[in-house]
Amino acid sequence: MIIKEITEELGKLETPFYFYDLEMLRETLSVASGEAANRGFHVHYAVKANFNPVIMKIIAGYGFGADCVSGNEIEHAIECGFPAGNTVFAGVGKSDNEIETALRLGIGCFNAESAAELEVIDEIAGRLGKKASVALRINPNVEAHTIKHITTGTDENKFGIRIPELEGVLDMLDELQNIHYRGIHFHIGSQITDLHVYRNLCIRINELWQWLTDRDFEPDDINVGGGLGISYDDPDRFPAFAEYFDVFRNNLDSRIRSTISFELGRSLTANCGSLISRVLYVKPGAAETFVILDAGMTDLIRPALYHAIHRIENLTSAGQGRKYTVVGPICETTDTFGKNIALPETHRGDIMAIRSAGAYGEVMASRYNMRSLPRAVFSDDL
Ligand code: LLP
Repeated sequence: MIIKEITEELGKLETPFYFYDLEMLRETLSVASGEAANRGFHVHYAVKANFNPVIMKIIAGYGFGADCVSGNEIEHAIECGFPAGNTVFAGVGKSDNEIETALRLGIGCFNAESAAELEVIDEIAGRLGKKASVALRINPNVEAHTIKHITTGTDENKFGIRIPELEGVLDMLDELQNIHYRGIHFHIGSQITDLHVYRNLCIRINELWQWLTDRDFEPDDINVGGGLGISYDDPDRFPAFAEYFDVFRNNLDSRIRSTISFELGRSLTANCGSLISRVLYVKPGAAETFVILDAGMTDLIRPALYHAIHRIENLTSAGQGRKYTVVGPICETTDTFGKNIALPETHRGDIMAIRSAGAYGEVMASRYNMRSLPRAVFSDDL
C-alpha cells in the first residue's frame, strides 16, 4: 500500500520509475509458499514476470524454484540464488545454444514442447556426455477464459505437444538414450480469475495420468503451470492462493503419487510494483480532458497491448474530482492508461501511481521514441 509519507519521498525522485514495496512482496511470498507447503506442493517462480535482481534474490530466499524461458533467464536465475537443480526450462523455440547452456549448468528439467525438440535435446546431451531430464509439455486443449492474447493451452496455440501426437512421442522416448523422462507439464494461460478453469485442467490431467501410467510412463512430476490472476481493481488484495491450491488438492486423482509443481509469476510480483510518474500537462480535448504523464507505453505496455486496466491513483491530490483520460507522451494513440477515469482535481506536477505493475511491467519496457528504460526504486532504500 502506498502511504502518504512514502509519497513525499517518491515525489523527490526523478520520474518515471517502478516503485517496489518489498514488504508487500515478502508478505505475498510468505502466504504463497506457506499455502503451497501446507498442501505438499512445490512452486517455481516464472522469471519472465519480473527479472529485477533485487526481486529475484528475495524470491529465491523463500525457497522457490525458477521457471525460465531463455538461456539468459537460466543464467540470471542461478546468479540470483535459485538452485540449478530446481530450475526448469520451457519455451517452444529453445535454441541449440540455450539447450547447451542449460545442460552445462545442470538445470532440473526441460519442459519439451515438440518431438523435434526432444531429438535436438537428445543429440546435444549425447555430445556433452550428459543425460537431460525432460517433462513433456502437453497442450491439454483447455479453455482458460482469459484475454485471448494470453491463452496458451488450446488447439490453436503454438504451445506444447498435442494429445493426438503423444503416442508417437512416447515411442520416441523409448529410443532416445540421453533423455530421462521425468513427467508432464501444462500451462493454459495467464490472469485466470475463474478458478473453475483449473478444475477442467485437473480433469484432463487425471485422464492423461491414467493413460500414461497404463503405458508405463507414470510421471514422477506433474507441473501444472501458472496463471493465477490478481485483482487489478483492488491492488492491495492478496491473490487467492489458498483457493487456487485447493482446486488442485480437491480435484487431482488421489491415486496420483507424483510431486505437483506450479509456476507462478503475476500473482507473486504484480501487487508489490507501481509505476510512478508525474503529470506534465492537463489538456482539454474536444470530449475529454487529458492528463499527460511522463510515463508512457514504453514503460508499461499492458494497456496498449492487451487493453489491460490498471488502477491509477493521484498520490498528491485528494478529494472529489472529475473524469480524465490518462495518457503518456509517446507518439501513438494507444499510449493511453485509462479513459474517462475518476480522479481528484489533477494538476501539473502531481505524482501518480499506476498500480499492480510489478509483473510484466518493467520487463516489457522498450526504448521506442529513444526513451530511457524506467529505473527501479525499492521501499527498503527509502
Ligand atoms: N509458465 C509458463 C510456461 C508461462 O508461459 C507463463 C506465462 C507462466 C508460467 C506464468 O504465468 P503467470 O502466473 O504469470 O500468469 N505479458 C502478459 C502475460 C504473459 C504470460 C506468459 N506466460 C501480461 O502482461 O499479461
